[in-house]
Amino acid sequence: MSFTAQEELQALAAPLQEQLEAELARWVQFNHLSSEWGWQCPARLREAMAYSLLAPGKRLRPLVVLFSAQACGASVRQALPAACAVEMIHTYSLIHDDLPAMDDDDLRRGRATLHRAFDEATAILAGDALLTLAFEVLAQLQPPEVAARCVRLLAQAAGACGMVGGQADDLAAEGQPGSPELLQAIHRRKTAALFCASAQLGALCAQASQGVQEHLAQFGHALGMAFQICDDLLDHCGQEDQVGKRVGKDHRRGKLTYPLLLGVQASRQEAHRWIQQALEHLRRGRLEHPGLVALAQFVLERSH
Ligand code: IPE
Ligand code: IPE
Ligand code: MG
Ligand code: MG
Ligand code: MG
Repeated sequence: MSFTAQEELQALAAPLQEQLEAELARWVQFNHLSSEWGWQCPARLREAMAYSLLAPGKRLRPLVVLFSAQACGASVRQALPAACAVEMIHTYSLIHDDLPAMDDDDLRRGRATLHRAFDEATAILAGDALLTLAFEVLAQLQPPEVAARCVRLLAQAAGACGMVGGQADDLAAEGQPGSPELLQAIHRRKTAALFCASAQLGALCAQASQGVQEHLAQFGHALGMAFQICDDLLDHCGQEDQVGKRVGKDHRRGKLTYPLLLGVQASRQEAHRWIQQALEHLRRGRLEHPGLVALAQFVLERSH
């Protein structure tokens, strides 16, 4: 009997996912802070953060952190704070991406977007708070030198020259004539930077060698490039009830996407090419963790 990539990934992720979900839920309870400062997180803000963070996301980036750490010989426990931090940054980016001033979406992870379920100001603040919390969580890594390296890496990947810069370029490109080179540069920053950082964080938590870190960084980058092409394809030809997001919105907003520039077939081939590259980096680094391999296959096959 042969399994689909999704079944394979689900089976390999299940033992990690339980710990990950429990840890994410624990962080947005805010018990850790109220005792230290005597300050409380306002109840509505906490509910908003939990609404988005604990919604049924695929958790691909934290899984990349954890599988990468395992591939380098570290335990899940060693890398769990980094995995949570990445998911917090990712969730904040989705909350802000959906705001009326950005992509103006009303459906996310099969639910109303945060600004629709709560209000715009709460959505902006919940995003701010998740971004900040990510670095508090990351700072807890041990030893402190590893924490410092991880903080720097994630800040660079998520910041103005990374994900936020990519989001700015994505918005600026709306309705403009574009080229495959420009689109690739946008995808590199808005999406691949965080996948690349996720794989590197796993390596850093395991205190892996420079060479191993480099292979995992290349793996994460290629995975992220394929991931965003497939995201564009799902918007173009996916099913809303499966994707859990509105579809056809990229076209309506005049977004620069792969299906627009290259068509569906060539876009699929491009995604394939990136996944082959991603797997090649795992092979070269002798890092073929079954979870990383299944995740790479899943990115190509996914329908959500
Ligand atoms: C959506 O990412 C945002 C993009 C970078 C395209 P995911 O498809 O990983 O979103 P969740 O976490 O599963 O909701
Ligand atoms: C989002 O890209 C990338 C980030 C959130 C950084 P999209 O705008 O294509 O993501 P979706 O389709 O809304 O999930
Ligand atoms: Mg967007
Ligand atoms: Mg969007
Ligand atoms: Mg999209």
